[in-house]
Amino acid sequence: MDGLRLDGRVAVVTGGAGAIGAAIAADLAALGAEVVLADVRPPTGEGPAGARALRVDLASPPSVTEFADAVGRVDILVHNAGVSIVEPFTESDPAGWDLMWQVNLRGPMLLTKLLLPGMLARGWGRLVFVSSDGARAGSGGEGAYAATKAGLFGLAKTLAREAARAHVTSNVVCPGPTDTPMLRRVSDAEPGLVDKIARGIPLRRLGTPADVAGLVAYLCTERAAYITGQTLSVSGGVTMH
Ligand SMILES: NC(=O)c1ccc[n+]([C@@H]2O[C@H](COP(=O)([O-])OP(=O)(O)OC[C@H]3O[C@@H](n4cnc5c(N)ncnc54)[C@H](O)[C@@H]3O)[C@@H](O)[C@H]2O)c1
Repeated sequence: MDGLRLDGRVAVVTGGAGAIGAAIAADLAALGAEVVLADVRPPTGEGPAGARALRVDLASPPSVTEFADAVGRVDILVHNAGVSIVEPFTESDPAGWDLMWQVNLRGPMLLTKLLLPGMLARGWGRLVFVSSDGARAGSGGEGAYAATKAGLFGLAKTLAREAARAHVTSNVVCPGPTDTPMLRRVSDAEPGLVDKIARGIPLRRLGTPADVAGLVAYLCTERAAYITGQTLSVSGGVTMH
């Protein structure tokens, strides 16, 4: 099948030190992209061969600017970094809302504002936003998180319209419950929760980082050139749209 290689493309994966980010970076690198792991913490493993790690704190506008200046040309921008604080909305602390807004929504907005002009000028680009099924369907304890992740839908669709003529696509991928440390942290507080979640999934298992990465990588290829402005779930059928 043609059009699946990414040789010569430079791909930034935010949250590249995390579980899903590392899987996305591995798939993009396997397709030939030159990958930049962008994270506030260093990568846990070695990362894919040839990958660069560059620090960015998405909650800090000066750090985002510094990152954009340092990274050089970017063809593919995968907004995957995210923070989640799980608590009933009435008990939630607005300081936590601020952090989630800054990392999950304002950070991607700032970074896109700095890196999209280059894509537009070169006439090719890919924006992929990793949101959450919690934002599509609602999820107990995730009110503020879901609000920030839902903001990505409007941003991605607007960018899809504004950038289409320059052959820049913009799409959203929504993981459902995915077996990562982020999910394990939540489930540690409630033993048996993971099994309960898995029983409620039509495909009867949690997602894996590789499940999410496969779709993200595909959206970055030439084969996906005619897909833009879409929101797609990778959730074993929990949510069907
Ligand atoms: N795990 C799940 O079940 C699940 C479900 C739906 C959506 N998601 C989303 O998928 C994405 C990846 O999640 P994951 O499970 O791999 O989590 P993770 O915690 O393993 O990875 C998130 C990464 O984001 C980075 N990050 C956090 N704050 C940052 C900041 N200020 N600047 C730069 N980087 C920062 C972290 O250092 C981490 O490496 C997140 O956006 C998350 O909201 C995850």
